[in-house]
This record gives sequence, C-alpha cells and structure tokens, in this order.
Amino acid sequence: MPRAYFFTTFVQYNATFLTTYVESGVRRITLAERLRKLPLSFFSKKDLSDLTSVIMADCATLETASSHWIPELIGPFISTFIIAVSLFFFDWRMALAALWVLPVSFGIVLGSSGAMHRKQEKQMAVKMACADGIQECLESVRDLSANNAEKEYLVGIDEKIKAVEKQTIVTEVGNAVFNGSARMILKFGIATTALAGGVLLKNGSLDVLTFFMFLLVVSRMCDPMLTSLDNLTAILSANIQCARMDEILSQPIQSGAEMLTNKGCDIVFDHVGFTYNGEETILRDVSFTAKQGEVTALIGPSGGGKTTVSRLAVRFWDAAKGKITVGGMDVSKVDPETLMSLYSIVFQDVTLFNNSVMENIRLGRKDATDEEVLAAARMANCDEFAERLPDGWNTLIGENGSELSGGERQRISIARAFLKDAPIILLDETTASLDVENETKIQSALSQLIEGKTVLLIAHRMRTVSGADKIVVLENGVVSECGTPAELLAQGGTYSSMLEMQS
Ligand SMILES: Nc1ncnc2c1ncn2[C@@H]1O[C@H](COP(=O)(O)OP(=O)(O)OP(=O)(O)O)[C@@H](O)[C@H]1O
Ligand SMILES: [Mg+2]
Repeated sequence: MPRAYFFTTFVQYNATFLTTYVESGVRRITLAERLRKLPLSFFSKKDLSDLTSVIMADCATLETASSHWIPELIGPFISTFIIAVSLFFFDWRMALAALWVLPVSFGIVLGSSGAMHRKQEKQMAVKMACADGIQECLESVRDLSANNAEKEYLVGIDEKIKAVEKQTIVTEVGNAVFNGSARMILKFGIATTALAGGVLLKNGSLDVLTFFMFLLVVSRMCDPMLTSLDNLTAILSANIQCARMDEILSQPIQSGAEMLTNKGCDIVFDHVGFTYNGEETILRDVSFTAKQGEVTALIGPSGGGKTTVSRLAVRFWDAAKGKITVGGMDVSKVDPETLMSLYSIVFQDVTLFNNSVMENIRLGRKDATDEEVLAAARMANCDEFAERLPDGWNTLIGENGSELSGGERQRISIARAFLKDAPIILLDETTASLDVENETKIQSALSQLIEGKTVLLIAHRMRTVSGADKIVVLENGVVSECGTPAELLAQGGTYSSMLEMQS
C-alpha cells in the first residue's frame, strides 16, 4: 500500500509540478526571445520595470495557477459532480436543497469577473507606475541630489504609493463583496438541507438514515467547494497577467530575409521620413548617399535628427516614408540581426556590463581570442587605463561601467568596433569625452579602422569633420547642405557659419 501511495504521489507531483516549471521556463524564454526581436519603438512605450515584472512576476503567477489553482479547482469539481449525480438517485428533493447553492455561488464569481477585471487592471496600472517611479528614483539618485530635487521627487513617489494603497483597498473590497457573498451562499447549502430534511421527515416522506447521509455529505462537500471557489476567483484574476503577456507576444516583430544580398556597402537614404511617436515629424525628407571607402559626416543643430538617421540605418526603427538601402538592399526587408553584422557602432550612450574590461570588449565579437581582444583594446587606447586598474584587464567595472570615466567608457566602445571589424562604421560623437591627447590617438587609430569602409560620422566639433569626404547638414528634418568641406565652405551656409563659430 505505501508503495502504491508513493507511486501515485510521484506521478502526480511529476505531472503537476515538473510540467508546470518546464512550461514556465519555456514561457519566460519565449517572452524574452520576442522582446529581443521587437523594434526599439516598443521599448520607448514600455518601462523596464513593467517588462521585467511580466517575465518574472506574471510568469510566477501563471506558475502558481497551473500547479495549484487549476488542479485544486478541478479535483473537487470532479468528485462533487459524481456525488451530486448519485445524490439525485437517492432523493431529488434533498439533492436540490443541498446543491442549489453551487450554481448560485459560482455564478456570482463568474458574473462579477468583468467588474473585478477592470478593478484589477487599474490596480496593476498604478502598481506599475509606482514601480517605475521607484526604479527611476534609484537610477537617478545622483542627479536628484545634485539638483537638490530629492524632496519634490519623493513627494511624487509618495503620491504613487498612496494611489496603489487606494486602488488595492478598492479591489480587495470588491473581492470581499463578491467572493465573500459567494462563500456565504455556499455554506447555506447545509442549512437548506437540514431545513428541507426536517420538513420531509415530519411529513414522513424521508427516512432518518437518508437525512443523516445527506447532512454528512453536504457538510463534507462544503470545504472543498469553498477552496474551488477561491481558486476560481484567483484563476479569473490571472487574466490580467495573461493579457500582459499576450500584449508582448502579439507585437509585430521586425522580420526579414536572413541572407545579405547587398552589393558593396553604400548607404542610400531616399526621401526618408520618420517620427518617433506620430506627433512630431523628426525627419521630413532626407536623401543622401554615404559611399563605401568614404567618410560621410552628419552635422547640424542638436536635436536635428542625426542620431535618428543612424538608428534608421541599422533598423533600430523602421522609416515611415521613403527607403534606406545598403549596397542596393532595402534594410526594411532584412532581419535586424543579420543586418547588424554589417555594422560596427559607437553610439553616444555606451552600454557596459558589470563584467571585466576584457569581456566588455569581447562583446564586439563573441568568438574573439584573448589576443584579438587585447589587440583591439590597444588600438582604442584602452591599455592605458585598463592596466592601471586593480585587477588589470580582469577588473569588474560595476553596473553599466559605473567605475569608469566617460572617456574610458567610450574607448571600450571603440575597441568593440575594432574587434567586430564590420564593413560599415557608425560613429556618434565618439571623441566627445576624450582629452586632446587621447582624441588625437583615437583619431589615428580610427583612420586605420575606417580604411575602405563606409563611415557615417556624427559630430558636433567641426575639427573632427573637416577631414571628411562629404558633409551632410541636417536641419529641420531635411538635408539643407551636402558636399565636400571645401564646397560647403564656399557656399557660406550652415557649415561655414558653424565652423566660424567654433574657431
Ligand atoms: N526615443 C525617442 N522617442 C521620442 N523622441 C525622440 C527619441 N529619441 C530622440 N527623439 C527626438 O528626436 C529629435 C532628434 O533626436 P536626435 O537624437 O536624432 O538628435 P541629434 O541630432 O542626434 O541631437 P544631438 O546632436 O543633440 O545628439 C529630438 O527632438 C529628440 O527629442
Ligand atoms: Mg545625437
């Protein structure tokens, strides 16, 4: 007997828990894979803490639903159904008196699910707003204290916490009213069975034994049905979590051919228009060509859309109008990951990982040997600071490279580009946080890196762009000037006035 018990428990645990955890793991990986493939436009609408909570907390809720709530709802239901059918064979009048509470109480829970869903949605929204606020506060604590703005910021967070408190009370009261009344009605079943049994006993149409049997069965059935009721409520509330996952899974991903068909690496912008949020048009009509083997410099006023142009070239976003091609291949028809193999990027905002200097550089090419990483690092002048660090190349650099200076961070980013050695190079303000000595060193290293490649260089300092083969001036969403530095200087337009101002 104990063996049979062990065996059935083993099978049951495997069937419920193992399957649930495997399923949960698959769900998390599916969501993460989807996120990886979504266009960046999705992430500017969603906060990080919101997405983290979908993958972690919401998946955990569904895990509990599959391992506990659903089995604990279905188990008692099956046994109750069998008992209910047999009760009708004994005495249909007593069976009615005992079982009428089931459809009523479960009906209340099911009927109130719409109203509860709306309350839970609101609760989730204020909870997420609060989590985002707290995360933002922790991330920006340095800027907040530098601007003496902590107090005002904390007042805002306090309001968000109060909103969560208020909405949680509203939701819980709703829960108590609907679930509580359903539970109460379920318990009525015992009373109505006793009452009906008493009447039938008195007029002699029921025998004592059947009466006691009904009382016994109904009182034994009550607790499992209460548990079922609670589980049904919990399962219905998990609809919120399912909807949040569906939202991610139903987002259109940026797909495309996984084969590169480009001939050469000229980048052509052909009447490109773009907006981030549908309101303000950032690029109205941008056309220019960045030729292979040439350095094309993008300049223009701050906020003019230079970084945006480089983001469109790598398909971080898709252009709303016009066409962008690389070597004749429409970038909007290429899988973003495949397309990225053509680019080495050094952006304004470098993302570093809490790992060693070495591994942060190796991100440029996963399979690079230590020697290759070190060679790339030396070309970007990383050896100068890396060898001074306590653990040299193996020093951990803190979350997002917090233990490095701005210039050091950029050099790591440049080293990554050296290591990747792709045919197109995007440089966005790469030398902005470097001192003159380092800037000169980096410039000479960059000139090795860019040989024979397509280079799109975004710069504010005219000194950096004067050596470019071509300059494209971006203003008010259009290309206002385009030509060699000498041509633009002769035109006496924006470039020449920017040059004059800076010198
Ligand atoms: N993710 C985004 N969502 C919405 N608007 C954005 C986003 N990124 C940039 N913008 C807006 O688009 C415009 C162009 O930004 P972009 O970063 O391309 O300018 P930029 O020319 O690179 O400026 P800078 O020289 O200061 O780096 C700006 O008005 C900016 O506010
Ligand atoms: Mg920029």
